[in-house]
Amino acid sequence: MGMWDTGVHTGYQPVQPIKFSHELHAGTNQIDCQYCHAGAFKSKNSTIPSLNVCMNCHKSVQATEKYDGEISPEIQKIYTALGYDPATMTYDHSKEKPVEWVRVHNLPDFAYFNHSQHVVVGEEAIRKEKGLKPNEPVCFACHGPVDTMEEIYQYSPLTMKWCVNCHKDTKLEVKGNAFYDKIIEAHEKIKKGEKITPAALGGLECGKCHY
Ligand code: HEC
Ligand code: HEC
Ligand code: HEC
Ligand code: HEC
Ligand code: HEC
Repeated sequence: MGMWDTGVHTGYQPVQPIKFSHELHAGTNQIDCQYCHAGAFKSKNSTIPSLNVCMNCHKSVQATEKYDGEISPEIQKIYTALGYDPATMTYDHSKEKPVEWVRVHNLPDFAYFNHSQHVVVGEEAIRKEKGLKPNEPVCFACHGPVDTMEEIYQYSPLTMKWCVNCHKDTKLEVKGNAFYDKIIEAHEKIKKGEKITPAALGGLECGKCHY
């Protein structure tokens, strides 16, 4: 029994190099997940935003009220990493040094997980299965109430059982979905004993061979 939780990191919450709060940005300030994690909608990986994205606001938002007119030391870390001097509003690129965010979620390399497949293709099915409200992003199904997390932590176990159980329970909406129309068409051919090719089963889709 003691070995049961080996390699399971639910609740993992490493200290990050900048005190970036999802509660403040995604909750209080209602910034869309997509603004910073656009990759999740288009690809396997959900990207972590570059500091240029932060600068869209933090060039002017310096939280000085809290620090007696001084720039917040946490915002200063963004400036330092970019070699930005707020007094002259200029960049010295020779002083750039990337912020080393600590990765929270991490599946072993042998398991393939694709964000866009779940965030875009499976969105409606997952929303229904998990009973999400219309204003809650589909991300919450797996990452929990991120908009209340001052510091991000791993909400779900990310075990194989966790993946498999959701695949067993979630009802797919296949009507009007061209992908499933093709599968039904292929099954009809198989039933009739007609020639079937890997292409008819999706073997020409780019993502089947390239990830
Ligand atoms: C203003 C930009 C911004 C917004 C908006 C934002 N995030 Fe993030 N997110 C970050 C940054 C920066 C990190 C890396 C630092 C950290 O882990 O706190 C991160 C990390 C994460 C992680 C952990 C990544 C890992 O290492 O495993 C998850 C999950 C996440 N965000 C989900 C969300 C969700 C869901 C939303 C919308 C409710 C959201 N984020 C909105 C900037 C943002
Ligand atoms: C759309 C605008 C917007 C973007 C983009 C944004 N922030 Fe913020 N951020 C804010 C606002 C507004 C506050 C609250 C400022 C205050 O309390 O005066 C804030 C506060 C903060 C604070 C707390 C400052 C303090 O000491 O209280 C940190 C740290 C921070 N942001 C980091 C980041 C990082 C890192 C990024 C990029 C990943 C980012 N922000 C992107 C709007 C933004
Ligand atoms: C079906 C579950 C699921 C959904 C829905 C989901 N994620 Fe994830 N997320 C994961 C898993 C699993 C990982 C770990 C992936 C890995 O290690 O390869 C992860 C990792 C991440 C990471 C770390 C970087 C990466 O790609 O590994 C970020 C950031 C993130 N998710 C943000 C989001 C955002 C934003 C959304 C909504 C737009 C979202 N996720 C929706 C399961 C999910
Ligand atoms: C919250 C529910 C949920 C969780 C958790 C979840 N999935 Fe999924 N997954 C889905 C749904 C729904 C689809 C179907 C999307 C579609 O094609 O309509 C899907 C599809 C997939 C597919 C494509 C299957 C195919 O036949 O093309 C893969 C691969 C996959 N998931 C991997 C994973 C992995 C790996 C994990 C765990 C790390 C995971 N999923 C966790 C709901 C989930
Ligand atoms: C049946 C598997 C398969 C499918 C489907 C497939 N590819 Fe490929 N693709 C390959 C292989 C294998 C290579 C490497 C060939 C080589 O090295 O000569 C390749 C090479 C490539 C390259 C060249 C990469 C480079 O480094 O030069 C590109 C670009 C590419 N594929 C794009 C696509 C796109 C876009 C699609 C969908 C329309 C697609 N592939 C579908 C198997 C596939």
